[in-house]
Amino acid sequence: MAPPSLTKLAYQTLQQSKTLAGLAHKEVSTKLMELLAPGAMPSIEKVPAEMLKELRRSMTDLEQIDWQEAEQGIYPKTQLFDAPWLEWAQRYPFVWLDLPSTWQRRRAHNIHDLPNEVDPEIYPDYYLQNFHHQTDGYLSDHSAELYDLQVEILFNGTADAMRRRVLAPLKRGLKRFQLRNPSNLRVLDVATGTGRTLQQIRSALPKVELLGLDLSAAYLRQAARSLNRRPGELAQLVRGNAEKLPFANGSMQAVTCVFLLHELPSSARQNVLNECWRVLEPGGVLVLADSIQIDDSPQFSTAMENFRRIFHEPYYRDYITDNIDERLKNIGFEGVMAESHFMTRVWTGSKPLSDET
Ligand SMILES: C[S@@+](CC[C@H](N)C(=O)[O-])C[C@H]1O[C@@H](n2cnc3c(N)ncnc32)[C@H](O)[C@@H]1O
Repeated sequence: MAPPSLTKLAYQTLQQSKTLAGLAHKEVSTKLMELLAPGAMPSIEKVPAEMLKELRRSMTDLEQIDWQEAEQGIYPKTQLFDAPWLEWAQRYPFVWLDLPSTWQRRRAHNIHDLPNEVDPEIYPDYYLQNFHHQTDGYLSDHSAELYDLQVEILFNGTADAMRRRVLAPLKRGLKRFQLRNPSNLRVLDVATGTGRTLQQIRSALPKVELLGLDLSAAYLRQAARSLNRRPGELAQLVRGNAEKLPFANGSMQAVTCVFLLHELPSSARQNVLNECWRVLEPGGVLVLADSIQIDDSPQFSTAMENFRRIFHEPYYRDYITDNIDERLKNIGFEGVMAESHFMTRVWTGSKPLSDET
């Protein structure tokens, strides 16, 4: 077997360092909470040693596929190292400074602690909460500036690797349109947040037209800042509700949606999937990524249960038993497939060419 290249070693070292940093952060912050805000400690189930081993194996598998798909040219290897390191280093102290208010909200079961200036009329009720006990929910620049870093810590440095799993199915799905000029293909990222998935799509498909939609203007501002820092096609960022996409029928050749479904009540989940179908052109592809579920990953059920207990995730329990495959097939998607990568499940389905369903 040939020795690993320097780039591969660098990638493996980076991933291991991120994992260690994430684990250390959580260890220290939990100890601090125990000491300073014991009333905020969530009651969690002990993770069995066997499951920890399985989690580590699954994380290594994710790292391997992430490397292999870069080697296959699905995205450039530079993607594997792409992060605003300096910005994250500058923001890291604020993640710590933010912790006491998070503990306070958790202790007081205060899940509606949002900025005063938020106009409740323009958001669905389910959205007006502090998901993850996050300061300001999704509704401030402060929250948007800390989000990427918080998610990387939450997933021990694997968040971007999990998001990248949408790229291979997305490129496969778009092959149906290979005779078209790529600049005439439109890819919409629903609930794009701070635009991490959009950045990844732009590096894998540099010529396509990109659109990102989210309910949070603050998160979209952060997405614009991150996307504009790097060269590449401009992405169109639109504030709107994924349940009522402001795009014409059949106007997209691909739709992606990452880490949204578990934050929606069941009926909103259905509305979003219906809307993805509506805006897709026949032949277009939908790629969804979200948390693993009980049926596909029963070995990680304790991790799922603990996630729900630690973070305010009001719809997660309903989500992990939701049959997304069936929802997609009932809408009319064909070739529905799903695969799991560490903590993320990725679904792909296409809108049939003859739109008679
Ligand atoms: C967990 S974040 C995921 C963001 C991003 N896709 C990522 O990978 O980090 C959920 C995002 O969904 C957005 N969101 C929630 N409900 C929405 C809705 N009904 N319509 C549009 N965006 C929504 C939130 O503002 C937030 O940016």
